Amino acid sequence: MSDLRSYISQIKKINELKTVKSPVSTKYEIAGITAKVDGSDAVLFEKIKESDFRLIANLVGTRKRFAIAVGGTENNIHEKVISAIKKAKKPKITSSGKFMENKSKNLLSMPIVTHFEKESGPFITSSVAYAKNPETGKQNSSFHRMMPIDKTHFSIRMVEGRHLHRCFTDAKEHGEDLKIAITVGVHPAISIAGAYQADWGKDEIDIANSLLGGKLTLAKLPFSGLNVPSGSEFVMEGKILRDKTHPEWMVEMLQTYDHKRNQPIFELENLYFRNNPIFHDVLSGYSEHRLLMGMPIESKLNGELKKSFSHLKFSNFLLEIKKIFQEKNFEKNSEKKIIFNKISKNFLDLNIKNFNENITEFEKILDENKNFFELKISLKSGKKYLEIVNCDLIFDF
Ligand SMILES: Cc1cc2nc3c(=O)[nH]c(=O)nc-3n(C[C@H](O)[C@H](O)[C@H](O)COP(=O)(O)O)c2cc1C
Repeated sequence: MSDLRSYISQIKKINELKTVKSPVSTKYEIAGITAKVDGSDAVLFEKIKESDFRLIANLVGTRKRFAIAVGGTENNIHEKVISAIKKAKKPKITSSGKFMENKSKNLLSMPIVTHFEKESGPFITSSVAYAKNPETGKQNSSFHRMMPIDKTHFSIRMVEGRHLHRCFTDAKEHGEDLKIAITVGVHPAISIAGAYQADWGKDEIDIANSLLGGKLTLAKLPFSGLNVPSGSEFVMEGKILRDKTHPEWMVEMLQTYDHKRNQPIFELENLYFRNNPIFHDVLSGYSEHRLLMGMPIESKLNGELKKSFSHLKFSNFLLEIKKIFQEKNFEKNSEKKIIFNKISKNFLDLNIKNFNENITEFEKILDENKNFFELKISLKSGKKYLEIVNCDLIFDF
């Protein structure tokens, strides 16, 4: 019950899966249909013109399906994610993975989607990369888009400072390539954990295992020695070359084109895949991307908010904010300051001093930014507390 297929069966049962049986092209058609179903059902494309494999899109495109992925309901997503982070537990390692049923050396056999006209090429957008942390020896897992260059090479986008980038920089400084593994087509709990920014040295896959009730199993890959979910549909292993780059750009979360940048190149050693595998595509800037990106951060923020403000009764958020910042003994490095710095960072060009001076300005800015997140007062187990919902912006802290 910890692979993509088990999740697809679950959403089929609740009638949230559409199947497209007529042939569709990876060039714009899949992206076009996915955009049309945004906010509703997941779609399984059974016949793809350019590939022998199936493809699923808009998989966790709603809060309801996100909740199913974490084993909860729409009302307890944050509790489920926070509890899984606290109870993160190493998965069992099995001797062989289901993905080992087939092996190839051709990346282009996968149904890689061309999404938007002005992007630098087709992209794999659901790719979760695994690498060994050079300091702790533990693994890291995180999403990284990949653009095919030829049968055995992809460009791989690594935002500077993200953990995969840190592992890569370390390898490069030692004159080495970085061995990595990549999965496509996993249970969404694994994707959610991959989108979560755990502390450096912590393995996100342990969070996925906890979300999956301890039922996740991993299998070791022969070339890289890395462990990946044994039920993955596709697994690639190889290395990120220390000395080669390729230009790439695509549509980002806010539906605008990213800048053109030279990014490192991944070189394939082996591609593994299950019998009759299912590829997964995430349409950039649409609901699934925004939920995967925003929800784990929403949970993290809410966990911190709860910790910082557990003593307060929130009947009116702004009133409470006013009270907090009008408190005379507001310390320089208090948790309150830290949490509000975190909330305001990235999109509110406002510092704590201004809060005291200009609450009306703060209210206005909050209102202007309600497209990025909303603040909600929730009532749970008879207690009122503050919650951040519909968090769309990337909070990097
Ligand atoms: C659909 C999706 C695509 C993403 N694409 C990229 C990407 O191309 N490059 C990147 O550096 N981060 C990307 N991210 C964000 C990171 O995967 C995410 O911030 C992750 O938590 C970073 O992990 P880390 O804490 O191990 O660095 C993407 C996230 C999602 C949900």
